[in-house]
Amino acid sequence: MAGLVIANWKMHGSLELIAEFSKEWRALPRLTDVNAVLCPPAPYLASVSGALEGVALGAQNCADRIEGAFTGEVSVQMLSDLGCGYVIIGHSERRALYNETDAQVAVKAQLAIAQGLQAVVCVGETLAHRDADQQDKVVTEQLLRSLAEVPCENLVVAYEPVWAIGTGRTATPAQAEAMHGVIRECLQGHFGEAGAGIPVIYGGSVKPENAGVLFECDNIDGALVGGASLNANSFWQIASAASAGRA
Ligand code: PGA
Repeated sequence: MAGLVIANWKMHGSLELIAEFSKEWRALPRLTDVNAVLCPPAPYLASVSGALEGVALGAQNCADRIEGAFTGEVSVQMLSDLGCGYVIIGHSERRALYNETDAQVAVKAQLAIAQGLQAVVCVGETLAHRDADQQDKVVTEQLLRSLAEVPCENLVVAYEPVWAIGTGRTATPAQAEAMHGVIRECLQGHFGEAGAGIPVIYGGSVKPENAGVLFECDNIDGALVGGASLNANSFWQIASAASAGRA
């Protein structure tokens, strides 16, 4: 499968940054063998839609309801209307800061997939879990609860160890590869053979400097990139490394 590299801008950016990013992106060579996705904050989805050649559009979150009186929420139908092909679901920041539960994550993923979006379901252990050597159990259980009644078509799993997000502390390629193997096994146990085709991407302080070694790992199909995705050149370098890693 082609590598998948997703830019998660979180609550960063502005119209000015979008203009600057697009200009820089246009000057860079077009990449092959990689699916690049940009997830700006929701108010900027329409501005990014179609602005970046070769880059798909994604959202950072969606509502767990179809429509109705849910002030401030954005539905999967609205994301689709704006041209989104992807939506990040259950990012650890949403789980930790907005108390999003595995059950909500599963409902969001069901709705997103039913809408034809690629649901990027995030899982990952905390440092306390890792220090207690509980990571495999914690991530497997979180994954299975987050995938309750979720079909495997249009599903992407992002492994993001919480201790590696925004900390500059990346999981070593060996740590990431080991967990991706555990996730892959869990997906195959859950979905059968179809589980083998689900992309499993890594997130947590991915930078141009460390992307290459991560993408050399057999079970790492791409990356979810936060900080380093705010700069077109560094995001391009990471996408380019993913393209080379799949060659
Ligand atoms: P980071 O964020 O690359 O800044 O660590 C990754 C993420 O939270 O998706």
